[in-house]
Amino acid sequence: MSEDKTPAERFLASAAEAAEVIVETVENDGFIHVFSHLDADGVAAAGVMGKALFKLDARFRLRVTQWVDEKIIGEIVADKPQLVIFTDFGSGYLELLNEKIPDFKVLILDHHQVNGDVENENFVQVNPHLYDIDGATEVSGSGVAYFVAKGVNVKNVDLAPIALVGALGDMQDKNEQRKLHGLNALIVEDAVAAQLLTVEKDLTFFGRETRAIHRALASATTPFIPGLSGEEDKCLAFLASLDIKLKDGEKWRALRDLTEEEKKKLSSALADHLIARGLHADVESLIGNVYVLNREEPGTPLRDAREFAVVLNSTGRLDKPSLGMAICMGDRGAALEEANRVLDDYRRSISTYLSWVMEKPERMRELEHIYVVYGETFINEKIIGTISSILVSGLANPEKPLIAFANIEEENAAKFSARTTAMALSKGINLGDVMRVASEKYGGKGGGHNVAAGAQVPIDQLENFITTVNVLVEKQLKGEDLGSNDSP
Ligand code: C5P
Ligand code: C5P
Ligand code: ZN
Repeated sequence: MSEDKTPAERFLASAAEAAEVIVETVENDGFIHVFSHLDADGVAAAGVMGKALFKLDARFRLRVTQWVDEKIIGEIVADKPQLVIFTDFGSGYLELLNEKIPDFKVLILDHHQVNGDVENENFVQVNPHLYDIDGATEVSGSGVAYFVAKGVNVKNVDLAPIALVGALGDMQDKNEQRKLHGLNALIVEDAVAAQLLTVEKDLTFFGRETRAIHRALASATTPFIPGLSGEEDKCLAFLASLDIKLKDGEKWRALRDLTEEEKKKLSSALADHLIARGLHADVESLIGNVYVLNREEPGTPLRDAREFAVVLNSTGRLDKPSLGMAICMGDRGAALEEANRVLDDYRRSISTYLSWVMEKPERMRELEHIYVVYGETFINEKIIGTISSILVSGLANPEKPLIAFANIEEENAAKFSARTTAMALSKGINLGDVMRVASEKYGGKGGGHNVAAGAQVPIDQLENFITTVNVLVEKQLKGEDLGSNDSP
C-alpha cells in the first residue's frame, strides 16, 4: 500500500477489499452469516449490510447480539457459512476468532479499539483505528458497513442516511455545533447529493419531529437550562410568555412546526435566559446541525436522524432487533407501528430505572475517581448502557467517569457500562483500556472506545473489579500507561 495515501484513502481501500470478498462469495453462491451489535449503530449496520446483500440476491442470515460468544462461534461451526461478517463489533474478539474459527473467511467491519495482533489471511478487518482515524467520533459501525456496501455497488448510496442514523446513535456528534465530521462527513455529502438528506441549523432539542415543544425543552440536557430543564410547567409558562402557540387545534406543536420567526424568538429568549444566569458559554450549544431524512414522513420519529436512532436502540435493546433492521431496509407500515410501541416501552423502562437509581444514595456511589451505579437485578442488562449514557451528562463532577452495572443472572456475571465526558478525555482517560485491563484481570472481557466502553465480569469479582477500575482511572490521570498485563 502506497505511503502517500491519506488515512481516509487507505481506509477506503480496505473497505473496497472487503467489498470484493462479498461480491466473490455471492458470485460463488456462498452462504453468508452476518452478526451485529444490538445498539442503534449495530442495528443500522445490520440494516445496511442486509439491504446490500438483499440487492445482490445473496443467500444470507442476519443476527443481532450483545457480544461475540461461544454460542455464536457454535452457530458458525455448525452452519459452516462460506463467509462470516461482523458489523459494529469484532475487533475486540480477534484472538477468540483466530482460536475458534481460523479457517473461516471472516470480514470484520468495526470501529472499536482493536484488541490483539492476529495475522490470519482469512480475516479482513476494516477499522478506522488501523489508519489512526478516531472510531469514536469519525465513523461508526454502520458507517464502516456503508463504505463496504458502496464498494459493492455505488447505488448503495441510498443507504447513506441509515449510516448517519447509526453514527448519531453512537453520539458521534459531540463536536462544535453537533456536526458530524471525518468519514461521517463524506457520508453526509453522499446523502445530500442523493437528495436523501437535508442538514439544517436549528435548535437541537431532542424530539424535534414528535415531542410537544415544552416537553422537548424540559428534557434538554445540552445545554442544561436552569429553571427550565426538567420542569415542564415552567417551560409551558416560558413559551406562553413568548406568545408561542402550543397547540394546533388538539395537536401539540413540535419544534418542527414553529415558524422561522417563532424559532428566532425562542432561541433569543433562551440565549437571554442563559446569559442572565452567567452561562454565556452555553448559548452556542443551543443551535446545531440537524439531520433531516427527506424521504420520511414529517412529524414521525424517522424524519429526524437522532429520533430514528432512538427507535433502533429500543428495538435492539428490547429484543426486537428484526423490527429495527426491517425498518432500516425500508419496511414501514406494520413494522413501524410495532416499533413505535417498543419505543414507548423503552422510554418507560428508562424513566423507571432513572427514578429507581435516584431513590437511594447507595444505588449511585461516588468513589475517589469514579461514580458507580449499582443496577444489580433491577436494571435490564441490555439497557444499562443507555442509563449510563444518560447519567453521565448530569454528574456533579463531570471529570469522574461513571460505571454502571446490571447482573446477567444466568451467567453469574455483571454487565458494566462505562461512560465519560470530553473533559475527562482531555485529562488522559481512555475507558476502553480501563475496561479491558480491569476485566481481564478478573477473568472477564471488556473494551470499547475512549469515551464509552463496557465489560462483563464474574459476579464474585464485582467489588475487586470496581476497586481496580478506580485505581486504573487514577493511573491514567497521572499519565501512566496501563499496558495489557498491568497488575494494579
Ligand atoms: O458499540 P458501539 O460503538 O455502537 O456503542 C457506542 C456507545 O458509546 C453508544 O452507546 C454511545 O451512546 C456511546 N458513546 C458516547 N459518546 C461518544 C461516543 C459513543 O456516549 N462520543
Ligand atoms: O454496552 P455499552 O453500550 O456500555 O458499551 C459501550 C461500548 O463498549 C460499545 O461500543 C460496546 O460495543 C463496547 N464494548 C466492548 N466490549 C465489551 C463490552 C462493550 O467493546 N466487552
Ligand atoms: Zn458502534
